[in-house]
Amino acid sequence: MINKNKYEAAWRCPSNIALVKYWGKKGKQLPANASLSFTLADLYTETKLTCASEEPGNIQVFLDGARQISFEPKIREFLARIDDLLPWLKDYSLTIHTSNNFPHSSGIASSASGLGALALCLAEIHASLSNQSPDVQFASELARLGSGSACRSINGTAAMWGEHPDFHGSSDRYAISVDHLLHPEFQGWMDAVMLVETGSKSVSSTQGHALLQEHPYAKSRFQEANRNMSRLKHVLQQGDIQAFADLVESEALQLHAMMMCSSPSYMLMQPETLRIIKEVRAFREQSGIPVVFTLDAGANVHVLFPGQHRIHLGETLFPMLAEACEGGKYICSTIGPGVKRLT
Ligand code: PMV
Repeated sequence: MINKNKYEAAWRCPSNIALVKYWGKKGKQLPANASLSFTLADLYTETKLTCASEEPGNIQVFLDGARQISFEPKIREFLARIDDLLPWLKDYSLTIHTSNNFPHSSGIASSASGLGALALCLAEIHASLSNQSPDVQFASELARLGSGSACRSINGTAAMWGEHPDFHGSSDRYAISVDHLLHPEFQGWMDAVMLVETGSKSVSSTQGHALLQEHPYAKSRFQEANRNMSRLKHVLQQGDIQAFADLVESEALQLHAMMMCSSPSYMLMQPETLRIIKEVRAFREQSGIPVVFTLDAGANVHVLFPGQHRIHLGETLFPMLAEACEGGKYICSTIGPGVKRLT
């Protein structure tokens, strides 16, 4: 905070990758099923927000210092969704300076980290204006209203979102950390993101979620996802890596199977996606090293692995997988918490 006419906040927020997928919404950006993700500490957005009492309602967004008028409608839509939670917003102008530490055209979605970082800034300014201490849960709720999966980036190494009987304190409104569930086997894991396709997607997540409304398998998918949450809880607690691989890979393929039998149907996997998936499975079988693939709503493949194998995999599996990537590129991140208040 600077003075009562001007407030500033700056935060870093990481991206995340879901193990059990959120795919389908209800009500006001609430999930049709619970989901659980690992936080990607090294793939993040940094955002500085300035709220000033001059020119209320004015919004300017800058990416790496350059004005991005095309981002502003999405930000306005987000602000309209949260105006009941932040009634002071309408009395201020907003200037948002943001940057990602991963390349823009990498095909890595910046919506989770970007909206997470903006939500953290808004939650801090809200706390200053209302004389409260900043609240992680509230920031997660704001982030959810920007982009559902963003709510899981705010809190912990592993976070879950969506009311579920097996997760105490779970809520449809915000995500909670489930770090306490992680068996030591899952400490120090990493994610190598194989960049198969670096352009924008042919069907956005927003469109994909909407197709679940009339989807013939929606109901059974939501039930199966919630059952997978119970199974994943057990697997994470037991440190059962084989069961982890089976479950996480099946979840990724179910997500894409839902796309393939939506009406209209569509496919976001590319031939290279399948090639990488097959190589990951063959390598796991031959080497006994637990490499596990997952996908988000795109063609890129996330390869999860215990960090102690990083050097070996960097000399063996990854160069082979990179042959199927655009420009031979992949990006590695540690799995861990990554939210940081910036001064
Ligand atoms: O947060 P959204 O609306 O971009 O949806 C994300 C959906 C998936 O990434 C495919 C799955 C997930 O749980 O993150």
